[in-house]
Amino acid sequence: IHPPVIAIDGPAAAGKGTLARRLAAELGLRHLDTGMIYRAAASRLLAGGGDPDDPAAAALAAQTLGADDLVRTDLRAERTGEIASKIAALGPVRAALLDFQRSFGRTAPGAVLDGRDIGTVVFPDARAKIFVTASPEARALRRHEELRGKGVASIFADVLEEMRLRDRRDRERAVAPLRPADDAVTLDTTDMSADEVFAAALAHVTSRL
Ligand code: C5P
Repeated sequence: IHPPVIAIDGPAAAGKGTLARRLAAELGLRHLDTGMIYRAAASRLLAGGGDPDDPAAAALAAQTLGADDLVRTDLRAERTGEIASKIAALGPVRAALLDFQRSFGRTAPGAVLDGRDIGTVVFPDARAKIFVTASPEARALRRHEELRGKGVASIFADVLEEMRLRDRRDRERAVAPLRPADDAVTLDTTDMSADEVFAAALAHVTSRL
């Protein structure tokens, strides 16, 4: 019997990361924010002077990704997220990052992984799958407030526009598009507090363990 894997998927700023971290702590599982792996590949590509529009350069960055790339200082930067979303549409980039995600999840005591395609592609047989979503306005507002909180200048309309672009790219790509798995439970967090989201998710996950 495999260690349990919990799949948390959804669009940017829906609350996946916070939820996944809390679930992992509560259940004694490991946590992996898989967006960080795509961001690390993007950061490696940019740092090496590679052309973000060259698919071969992007694939090479993903294939040669190492542990030191996961601690790069620009991982959370907007530009890194933008390039990550671009190169995440490429099949060879996604293929290069699959093994790492799968072996992370298969290692005892099990793990909570959050991303876009965990329940559909990375772990189609996950023990529990939750699709976390919220309106684009609510997500843009959360991101905007988070940026302001960090002292970063931010314009709501720009954040919303960027959010919509990213959503479209993630949903419409041919390889591993963002969508709920058929057996996922969807949580719309537009009008929910983080505590309510956690309680609802925990109830579902516990019923599957
Ligand atoms: O979640 P985050 O914003 O950090 O992810 C950055 C980008 O990486 C996303 O816009 C998405 O295109 C890509 N990604 C992905 N599959 C995942 C996680 C992230 O395609 N499992």
